[in-house]
Amino acid sequence: MPLPDDADDKWIYKPHTAAKHEVLQKYLHPWTNKLTSYNKSAHQPNKVRVVDCFAGRGNYTKAEGTDPLNLEFVDSPTEYPGSPQLILDRLTDRSNQYDTAECVFIEANKNNYQTLDETIQQTTGYDSQISVDCKHGKFQNKVLNVVESTDGSDCPTFFFIDPFGFKSLDYDVITEIGSTPQFEFLITFMSRDMNRFLESEDHENALNGVFGHNHWRDEIETYDPTNWEPLVEYYTEQLEENGPKETFEYKITEPETTQTVYYLVFGTNHPNGLKTMREVMSYCGTGKFAYAPKQPEYDREQARLFGGGTKDFLLDRFGEYIITFDKLVETCTEERRYADATESDYRDALRELEEEGKVDIQRITSENTGIQGSDLIDFHDSDKFGG
Ligand SMILES: C[S@@+](CC[C@H](N)C(=O)[O-])C[C@H]1O[C@@H](n2cnc3c(N)ncnc32)[C@H](O)[C@@H]1O
Repeated sequence: MPLPDDADDKWIYKPHTAAKHEVLQKYLHPWTNKLTSYNKSAHQPNKVRVVDCFAGRGNYTKAEGTDPLNLEFVDSPTEYPGSPQLILDRLTDRSNQYDTAECVFIEANKNNYQTLDETIQQTTGYDSQISVDCKHGKFQNKVLNVVESTDGSDCPTFFFIDPFGFKSLDYDVITEIGSTPQFEFLITFMSRDMNRFLESEDHENALNGVFGHNHWRDEIETYDPTNWEPLVEYYTEQLEENGPKETFEYKITEPETTQTVYYLVFGTNHPNGLKTMREVMSYCGTGKFAYAPKQPEYDREQARLFGGGTKDFLLDRFGEYIITFDKLVETCTEERRYADATESDYRDALRELEEEGKVDIQRITSENTGIQGSDLIDFHDSDKFGG
């Protein structure tokens, strides 16, 4: 018998919980920076919203093998706070950037909801411009009210979708969120559970609901249960058909084995959103877009040592172009999605190429020796403009 969602044993703070929270915590910073700048440039009210769709209790019973997350501003009556407090804390840290912020915390289980509501009522230290709304009910039923009442045009909204299993990952709801221009999401995709139930007829309906149709079995035939990447890739392809334009995956394994527990799946409609999350994920976990302590290929230092190739790629890909730095990074992010290099690696590579006399850089955004924004990179064989 599976444990009920309010069983204390389900509320132990583990290394994979911390790995998931690290990504959420680190992304909320640049997300707030960028989207509040966007609000200002679009002359719209400077408001942001975060919806924690599976908010949980806001209160773990204990931690095993890791420390609880660190809150800088928020005081909560628990030693082991959850994602709601983390969101309040990170938004408070950026409170000088927006006029108002809205947090919506949705929780379906009655006991978990009660604990959440009490815990959040006793939580202090978050900024007074932040409003908090704890909702009791299923995310599938509650979240569309938020989506439909705003149609995405009132403010940028980030959805954290973090179920225990996969049954509630309703394809229609998720693609509706994902297709809305100013919305982004981060989903915990429980590949371990899915793998366990892939052949089970009892779970057929739930799996149809996740993939949005009933012919997935034929399409994932080549899927190999020892390598779960194809499964998450199939899922993200299905999402991109009706949902967000861009997705990106981050792998989380058990700390002591190579077993994948889940993938975090990020969805956005904006290339800049993809670039920002990719950068954040590149410095979270153990490296190479993963928390996988027992897998050397996901070790940051090793990947750097053997990854290389950035300068060669740039020469090969852009040899005939004059291109702005921003467009170059955007193109690289698209085309080398899971390669290691980040914006600063591309900058370093270009600096070296400039020293070697292989590119000229016309500084437009940068004043002196920097490389950024609209600075024009001229690869010497260039006869085209663009990328
Ligand atoms: C993994 S826990 C959430 C943990 C929390 N996000 C955190 O990081 O601290 C998943 C929660 O979703 C709740 N839940 C289950 N089905 C749900 C649904 N359909 N809608 C909203 N919440 C649901 C469970 O009761 C449980 O508290």
